[in-house]
Amino acid sequence: MISTSTDIKPFDVGAIRKEFPVLERKVKGKDLVYFDNAATAQKPQVVIDALVNYYHQYNANIHRGIHSLAEEATAAFEATRDTVKEFINARYREEIIFTRGVTEGVNLVAATYGRQNIKEGDEIIISGMEHHSNIVPWQMLCLEKKAKLKIIPVDDNGELMMSEFQKLISPKTKLVSIVHASNSLGTINPVKEIIDIAHQYNIVVLVDGAQSSVHLDIDVQDMDCDFFVLSSHKIYGPTGVGVLYGKKELLEEMPPYMGGGEMIKEVTFDKTTYNELPYKFEAGTPNIADTVAFKAALDFVNEVGKDNIRKHEEMLTKYAMDKLLKIDGVRLIGTAKHKTSVVSFIVEGMHPQDMGILLDNYGIAVRTGHHCCQPLMNRFEIPGTVRASFAMYNTKEEVDELVKGVEKAIKLLK
Ligand code: ALA
Repeated sequence: MISTSTDIKPFDVGAIRKEFPVLERKVKGKDLVYFDNAATAQKPQVVIDALVNYYHQYNANIHRGIHSLAEEATAAFEATRDTVKEFINARYREEIIFTRGVTEGVNLVAATYGRQNIKEGDEIIISGMEHHSNIVPWQMLCLEKKAKLKIIPVDDNGELMMSEFQKLISPKTKLVSIVHASNSLGTINPVKEIIDIAHQYNIVVLVDGAQSSVHLDIDVQDMDCDFFVLSSHKIYGPTGVGVLYGKKELLEEMPPYMGGGEMIKEVTFDKTTYNELPYKFEAGTPNIADTVAFKAALDFVNEVGKDNIRKHEEMLTKYAMDKLLKIDGVRLIGTAKHKTSVVSFIVEGMHPQDMGILLDNYGIAVRTGHHCCQPLMNRFEIPGTVRASFAMYNTKEEVDELVKGVEKAIKLLK
């Protein structure tokens, strides 16, 4: 039976929890406390149903067939594009390119826009709190083009040093690629201000929305970013689907990323002409089922309401930070004024991984380590952190369990 979530009232966390089957399970004999939402969020029943329903009812390839199943599958796939367009307030549906996720989105821009526009001696600016997926593709491009990567430093609270950003800009700066919300610190960066400044110098800006798109209202027109990338699985949708938003005029000028079926208009052995947007960037059979189910995730988030979700998560974040700070030896990493629901901490004299293993024994899932941000960990001179990240279905009682778990672990290992 296909479940609907229409009976969710703002904001009933008990009702919301019932929509997520995995939350019923036990880990090591304890009720699961899932605090690894920044890595991937759990999926509501409506998403699981949409996935299963696609395979039960209308599995077919898209854009190619004229039979009924192909038409249904194509309509469902394209409906997700329309929902994403609304979700981030893009101007045109053809500005929405489906990818495998944020990593592919950044790589796509680096390999197409980047290769086309970055020349020897040019400069690209990123920040000191980027995920490896927003560092390595630019490093690869810089190596290939003999261009230079410049880094906006991060202060002790985990905020960008904006005065330094201005100083990094030079006539050679061609692109800025910046994370909207840090996965390891939770810091929400002033992307609008960064974009405003960059545009004064005609610099193109990519915003990494991997962690922001689930928590914040995204309006790419208001933000005026040139590119924006997100991943479905962080927004309660399936893995293996992401979105690259790009301004139409930029996407039109960019060469394709991969060659193959669907991205062509006409192929001869002499020459190929390319398809129009967005298909020019969607070579091969895409991840149809997961893309279809992604729509169910976005509808679900819209139904619960991002404002409601944000308020709930802000309450949990403040509660967790206050309680953890009271524990002797705990140091919070990332105390920016504007934060998403990420609480990163270390315990004096204890390796984050040991804490993570003990918490797992108590049924609590957190992420430990460098969170794919090794340069940021080096900046704080730590090997990594313990990271608890909250979602709409988490509760204060679960935070209490975390705090108890941390206290127990400290007693055990000290
Ligand atoms: N980037 C994901 C995280 O922060 C995987 O855990």
